Amino acid sequence: MRGAAAGAALAALALLAGLIPALGDEHNHRYQVGDTVTLWVNKVGPYNNPQETYNYYLLPFCRPKPAERPRHKWGGLGEVLQGNELIDSQLELKFRTDVPKRDICRMTLDDEDVEDFSEAVKRHYWYEFFADELPIWGFVGPPPEQTKGDDTVYIYTHKTFDIAYNGDRIIHINLTSENPQPIKGGGQLTFTYEVHWKASSIPFVRRFERYLDFNFFEHQIHWFSIFNSFMMVIFLTGLVTMIMLRTLRKDYARYTQKDHDDLESLERDMNEESGWKLVHGDVFRPPRFLEVLAALVGTGVQLALLVLSVILITIAGALFVERGTIVTVFIICYALTSFVGGYVSGSYYARNEGKAWIQTMLLTACTFPVSCFAIAFVLNTIAIFYQSLAAVPFGSIVIVLLIWMFISFPLCLFGTVVGRNWAGAPDHPCRVKRIPSPIPDKAWYLTPQAIAVVGGLLPFGSIFIEMYFIFTSFWNYKVYYVYGFFLLVFLILLIVTVCVTIVGTYFLLNAENYHWHWTAFSAGASTSVYVMLYSVHYFVVKTKMTGFFQTAFYFGYTAMFCLGLSTMCGAVGYLGALAFVRRIFRGLKVD
Ligand SMILES: *[C@@H]1O[C@H](CO)[C@@H](O)[C@H](O)[C@H]1NC(C)=O
Repeated sequence: MRGAAAGAALAALALLAGLIPALGDEHNHRYQVGDTVTLWVNKVGPYNNPQETYNYYLLPFCRPKPAERPRHKWGGLGEVLQGNELIDSQLELKFRTDVPKRDICRMTLDDEDVEDFSEAVKRHYWYEFFADELPIWGFVGPPPEQTKGDDTVYIYTHKTFDIAYNGDRIIHINLTSENPQPIKGGGQLTFTYEVHWKASSIPFVRRFERYLDFNFFEHQIHWFSIFNSFMMVIFLTGLVTMIMLRTLRKDYARYTQKDHDDLESLERDMNEESGWKLVHGDVFRPPRFLEVLAALVGTGVQLALLVLSVILITIAGALFVERGTIVTVFIICYALTSFVGGYVSGSYYARNEGKAWIQTMLLTACTFPVSCFAIAFVLNTIAIFYQSLAAVPFGSIVIVLLIWMFISFPLCLFGTVVGRNWAGAPDHPCRVKRIPSPIPDKAWYLTPQAIAVVGGLLPFGSIFIEMYFIFTSFWNYKVYYVYGFFLLVFLILLIVTVCVTIVGTYFLLNAENYHWHWTAFSAGASTSVYVMLYSVHYFVVKTKMTGFFQTAFYFGYTAMFCLGLSTMCGAVGYLGALAFVRRIFRGLKVD
């Protein structure tokens, strides 16, 4: 048994190690004069549709010599999941060695080539190369706007690489596309390139600053919005503490006074008595669908911890400069934090005296991954149909499944068992009455539905400027690097969600409605409804995406994001409300 466990652990470690790209000589980024610098071609696709990408050689560009099978670069799981496939271009590129104008190849265009190229130029196709881990971008042809009044479509045939170096390091690479030639059937095209090297004094460690848009991310608006959200947090927490303290103190005072009063006033008091104290016999009644709530709360806490660890690791390692690494980190962290998900859901379920713990554990382990997998499956089918590079190869799907089966799932099971045994004893401050009380009718704004819908507004308000920056990074080619901001906004979001859920729960209990469990969860979770609405606005107003493919990917990814966000906010808000409810009823001496 122990041997098997050790074997499984070793296999898991080997699996994790395989996710991290192998260390090659390109990875120390040092070259001698004359060393080969590999130019990798990656993807090509319409500029306005960031996910609609194709293999570079899907366009009839000159292919590498078929005799030698072109080298592919394995850059880790995250890179593949993000739809990258690096293929050796076999263009000769040597460190600090200029190449004068030289032919790549000559080709005669047949009708099919003409159609492919024209389509690509008309749809603003651009392509991405990599050299020494630096991205290089260029357009296939001049945008048709530039050649207005002219029916012929042109394609760039000459590429000039201007490469800056500092000592034995490559600092940056400029690509200039020139010499547009008309695309017409039977026409001859000669593709050429040249390379110039220039010394630069920019130190290697600062070479990525070129890709960061300081003006955009560190704009006054951004600072202002953080400041604003921060003020909101102070105001909200202050408000919550003040109202709660005052109300609760007055409530307790009245309640304990009853002992000393005569019977008559007690009777009057009981008749007058209203509000949260009346529901003490029902408030800890286990919620409907306890298994589902336990699973969602466990998953939500896991996601919160996951986001926190990914942000911290990214800040510590400055990972945003490396392709796909954040995705890899995300997957590994998800697998490892499964223990926490199992622990929280298992202990919560046991405290509510649930009996079907295996079912709950399965729900915890599966709900989120299976939902994401279902969406990803649909997107992948679309991508395969379009022959896009965004289609995840079968091998990578298997790796993800194996990680889930052999790391995430056992950890969730283990967490559940530990949670049940360590923290699973029922400990409600008040006993639950045998017969549920009726719930009085109240104004519409005190109904669970209203509280759930309004609950998401403030948390959404605290993140929506950041949403703009994140969406813009994701869909409009900005490198997101301000993870410090992200961390702040994340913490603000959690605090605001907890405060709002507590206030909402207090109102609901005061309306003598003890169905607060799902209301509290939905109040936090509804944040993502507003994010979803915002994403529709963003899609229509801020992007120029077109076509079924990109629309499906946009809304598919947003749906996954909102799914995670709602589970996380719902769980965090619910746990805050649970702590609050336990706190106020602990002070209440009844029975
Ligand atoms: C690349 O382009 C930038 C901006 O246009 C310029 O400042 C830089 O000198 C260029 N580098 C080389 C090596 O030509």
